[in-house]
Amino acid sequence: MNFLEGFSKITRTDTFVNSGVGLEQKLDPSKLDFAVLGDSFQDFFRQGARISPTLLSMPKGCLQQGPHCHPGGEFSYVVEGEYFDGDMEGGVINTYPAGSVVFYSQGSTHRPLSKEGATILYIPFDGILFGKDPEDLARKMVKVGTAEEAVEYALQWMVTDSGKRQELRKTILDS
Ligand SMILES: [Fe+2]
Repeated sequence: MNFLEGFSKITRTDTFVNSGVGLEQKLDPSKLDFAVLGDSFQDFFRQGARISPTLLSMPKGCLQQGPHCHPGGEFSYVVEGEYFDGDMEGGVINTYPAGSVVFYSQGSTHRPLSKEGATILYIPFDGILFGKDPEDLARKMVKVGTAEEAVEYALQWMVTDSGKRQELRKTILDS
């Protein structure tokens, strides 16, 4: 099975996957069972110089932080509670309850927020780029050589107004 075929909730174009996607296959709790992630792991993640397994605690009402980008991709497991990937207004895009196994592909962007709080174990495969706002993040992505399609995708979900987005894209690419 192709790596991506094992996922549900795919947010993507034909050639690029953004946001979180979770494992579709459920394990059978009545026996010793396992799920293999597939053969094309390298298409989805790029192992970089900074691999940093991290245990993160998000408190209740953790709703203010900005968006970030994963140059090499990220694996995440929700130990307790629940978090969601939000839009720039704080609206819910995807929700991940306790027990979720979530993947963010190389170059993808998201904004993790939590209403009730969460404990998350995550592994970024080449550090994390944080942005204080969409423009700041997109500039950093361009600077480190993130694929154009990934920058385009990031701008699409972060800046929903197409006029503003066009303007921003021009400013970022012209400077
Ligand atoms: Fe992340």
